[in-house]
Amino acid sequence: MRLHVLPLFLLVACQALPHAPARPIVRDIHSFAEPNRVRVTHAALELALDFAKKEASGTVTLALVRPDERAPLVVDTKELVIEAVTGASGTPRRWTLGAPDEKLGQALSIELQGGDSSVRIRYRTTERSEAMQWLAPAQTAGGAQPFLFTQGQSILTRSWIPLQDSPGVRITYEARIRCPQGLTPVMSAERQGQDSLGAWRFKLEQPIPPYLIALACGELAFRELSPRCGVWAEPSVVEKAAWELADTEQMVQAAETLFGPYRWGRYDLIVLPPSFPFGGMENPTLTFATPTILAGDRSLVALVAHELAHSWSGNLATNATWSDFWLNEGFTVYCENRIMEVLYGRERAATELVLEIDKLKAELATQEPWQQVLHTDLRGKHPDDGFSEVPYTKGALFLVRLESVVGRARWDKFLRGWFDRHAFQSVTTQDFLDDLARELPEAAQQVDLAQWTEQPGLPADAPSPKTKALAAVDAEVAAYVGGKSPKELASADWTTAQWLRFLRGLPETLSAPQMGALDMAFHFTDSGNSEIVCQWCELAIAHGYGPADERLERFLREVGRRKFIKPLYTALMKADPARAKKLYAENRARYHSVATGTLDGIVK
Ligand code: BES
Ligand code: ZN
Repeated sequence: MRLHVLPLFLLVACQALPHAPARPIVRDIHSFAEPNRVRVTHAALELALDFAKKEASGTVTLALVRPDERAPLVVDTKELVIEAVTGASGTPRRWTLGAPDEKLGQALSIELQGGDSSVRIRYRTTERSEAMQWLAPAQTAGGAQPFLFTQGQSILTRSWIPLQDSPGVRITYEARIRCPQGLTPVMSAERQGQDSLGAWRFKLEQPIPPYLIALACGELAFRELSPRCGVWAEPSVVEKAAWELADTEQMVQAAETLFGPYRWGRYDLIVLPPSFPFGGMENPTLTFATPTILAGDRSLVALVAHELAHSWSGNLATNATWSDFWLNEGFTVYCENRIMEVLYGRERAATELVLEIDKLKAELATQEPWQQVLHTDLRGKHPDDGFSEVPYTKGALFLVRLESVVGRARWDKFLRGWFDRHAFQSVTTQDFLDDLARELPEAAQQVDLAQWTEQPGLPADAPSPKTKALAAVDAEVAAYVGGKSPKELASADWTTAQWLRFLRGLPETLSAPQMGALDMAFHFTDSGNSEIVCQWCELAIAHGYGPADERLERFLREVGRRKFIKPLYTALMKADPARAKKLYAENRARYHSVATGTLDGIVK
């Protein structure tokens, strides 16, 4: 029975059966699991958080289906201490850990007995569990309590939970979390309150890829934004966050109109401490976000549109392997832009997309051919090696191109159908091409699909949107270069995107007085907008502009968002390697493993 021929009400009913029969799971080179022989369907976590030891310990109970009755259960682990494995009745099972692989971790193989439909693993995490970042009180806004958050994508969940850590293996989960008094844990699941023993309970009934299991714990407050949306943050941050994110409900409604029903219950966000290594992470029911989006003027909320869009592209229809990552991120950038268009108009949406296209083009010029391909060959590589503007912006441009062939009405129907047909399933690039050929044959004929998905570079038919807002900035940059003084520039109503275009368009050879005059006119050094500060500091480093030094050093001390600190340390290495190394040595312990994983290769 193929799900896509079912009427919608039946489809929704099937979604309630989390483990409806599926086709065989696609081979994933980044997991040791053999899910077509024994597959995990549900994980029940019982964990205690010890902030002094920076350790989570307890058990996970894995429910199984066993197409091959004689096969062992193979799960992924990385830097975990496995203490015991038992069957449902508590009797021990034999287990072995395979040889450690630097990228993938270690396979844990468990010998099952005839009747085993679940196993329980007792374990604890270690200081090397890359998914977890334990923050000292000084790294939080409140300064009084410690903080913990996890980051599962792409293959880090195995470093805090032993399970089949492949995006093709969907599971439901529940959890009981114990933590010190005064702290509140939140997860990517429905909150079920505290039980009589003081443990906090969570449950997610929708089947998800394991990279979406997430936990944060700290001194947290909550503000409602609408009946189904709200924001968590430290008490001193939560009001500012609620103001900044006030449009969230409207975004959910726009997304539902475009992509179909929101199938996850609540949509909440948590604004984390600034060491969070990403802008946002689309953990279901609870987006994790960096505080650097709190600009005070709602100018950086595209990030919310992005993480929300993942509730369809990524969390409903999930990349089956990390080689199909563009199906997550390219679709999401496209969908994000459509949400932005509904809320703020075509001009703002297109302007923000053009900035990304500029970054894509700059990046393509520096990349090896394999990195420029949407459907990437990751053999011998870590999934994150394929992380760049390519899956994001080249992926989105591919969809813009397809839309241009069939027109928006038919394209939108297709897009919505794509999510409905593949809801709660994992999808490959080939699945997408098959769907296109069946549903939109003329797009498949008029566009060189294989060139888009399998070849490096940007195809000649890539759309190249233009906006008045950016043309206006370019004119002012030209006028500035031609001698117009900063104060005379027609910049009064510029948006963040326009300021970024301006800063990126400035000549590479400004004098110290010129830098000073720009700063005096526009207060870049003192800007509260993280995107502008980062872009300005990059310029300041390249020009040796001293008055921005203190701001730069504070930014690098506080902010751990990889997208910002990577270009800053790169610029520092170019301008003053000794200073780059000194600053990095001072700050490294405060960055997440995801960030140090990238930066260790840059600052050396
Ligand atoms: N899912 C990604 C973050 C991610 C990707 C984590 C790959 C680990 C591996 C998230 O949705 C994302 O793309 N975040 C962006 C923000 C967005 C507005 C482009 C980020 O963090 O900058
Ligand atoms: Zn994303």
